[in-house]
Amino acid sequence: MHYVEFGKLGFKVSRFGMGCMRLPMEEGYSDDSQVDEDEAIKMIRYAIDNGVTYIDTAYGYHGGRSEVIVGKALKKGYRDKTKIATKLPVWHAKTYEDFERLLDEQLSRLKVDYVDFYLLHALNEKQWHRVRKLGVLDFLDEAIKKGKIRYPGFSFHDELPVFKDIIDSYDWCMCQIQLNILDEHYQAGVEGLKYAGSRGIPVVIMEPLRGGRLAQNLSEEVIDIWNSYPIKRSAVEWAFRWIYNFPEVTTILSGVSTMDQLKENIEIFKNAEPNVMTDEELSLVKRVQEYYKSKMKVGCTGCDYCMPCPSNVAIPTIFSMYNDASIYDDFKSYKNRYKDLISKDNDASHCVECGNCESACPQHLPIIEKLKEAHGALI
Ligand SMILES: NC(=O)c1ccc[n+]([C@@H]2O[C@H](COP(=O)([O-])OP(=O)(O)OC[C@H]3O[C@@H](n4cnc5c(N)ncnc54)[C@H](OP(=O)(O)O)[C@@H]3O)[C@@H](O)[C@H]2O)c1
Ligand code: SF4
Ligand code: SF4
Repeated sequence: MHYVEFGKLGFKVSRFGMGCMRLPMEEGYSDDSQVDEDEAIKMIRYAIDNGVTYIDTAYGYHGGRSEVIVGKALKKGYRDKTKIATKLPVWHAKTYEDFERLLDEQLSRLKVDYVDFYLLHALNEKQWHRVRKLGVLDFLDEAIKKGKIRYPGFSFHDELPVFKDIIDSYDWCMCQIQLNILDEHYQAGVEGLKYAGSRGIPVVIMEPLRGGRLAQNLSEEVIDIWNSYPIKRSAVEWAFRWIYNFPEVTTILSGVSTMDQLKENIEIFKNAEPNVMTDEELSLVKRVQEYYKSKMKVGCTGCDYCMPCPSNVAIPTIFSMYNDASIYDDFKSYKNRYKDLISKDNDASHCVECGNCESACPQHLPIIEKLKEAHGALI
């Protein structure tokens, strides 16, 4: 495992961080909270046994189960071998008192006295201004004094100017942004990464494989581009390599839903040094970026924040089908798959345009309009 200094905090962390938002699920599960607990615990412990020192969870992951499972995995001495990051669900806080109530609930779920990294979750302009007025920065100072958290941070989903404003508004110990080969200039993007880096703030990366879309069901064109390079690497390795090449990136969070994925990804991080990519490698990535951009219909990352839809519309599944149909130029197969959604009343025709999904979407997608477009193409 490769380790890097975590900014100026005086310790190193593994460059690979275990994301606990996509843990393995029970067979035939019907909702996101039905995690295969034994397997998830095994995976978290495997990660730590193999040098991972950063575990990322949040109040809302897997309907609250993620924090509980991380807590169980960290028994038997594992707590002392890793840093834990969890996140305050800012949207649940209506008063100042709510901040501490939520943190206490999280400490009790995790069964720990303190968390290392405590992030304001998924900040955007609206939530940032709202919780700032409620006194969230005073709350963070107080939580540090009380010993309940060590290092305050935030995770981010909005435009670059908002990111810079947040970065400059507090003495943050870290921040977390989305970055992958398709999101180079999206949200905070590489410019935001460098901005935080220039201020000495460690940056943790989420969605490095764009929720798996850079790893699975690759088109022949993409496979051909990767394979055209003399040194053979998997698409997963290329995607991680492009990110760990940035010296401003500290830890890269990887969501894994199987032990095999975890093992493969940990192997890749044995050598994850920055500044290793040659000009030829960077231009190879550029070719892949250009290919994807020319094909994608909706910039959905499959994060599920828009779910559940009150009308049972399977929003991320529909967008994934629409994008895949376009990327692989195979509308026939995806029209067949869409019939399955229609038979379960989960297709886009059931959207009543309530707008709940659009206000929850960290990518700020015009979901209602895109659903109509996808429905038209897949029906
Ligand atoms: N703070 C926030 O707002 C926020 C938002 C999003 C994520 N996060 C955090 O960041 C972490 C990382 O984000 P992410 O989970 O979206 O990461 P990601 O790496 O972009 O996507 C994870 C998915 O990629 C696929 N995958 C991973 N390794 C693979 C491999 N070796 N081969 C084939 N497929 C592979 C799996 O898909 P399948 O499961 O389909 O097989 C996995 O669930 C999350 O787990 C979470 O802890 C935070
Ligand atoms: S706008 Fe449509 S898809 Fe979105 S939550 Fe409402 S009903 Fe569901
Ligand atoms: S539509 Fe938005 S909130 Fe829903 S899964 Fe896609 S990116 Fe996430």
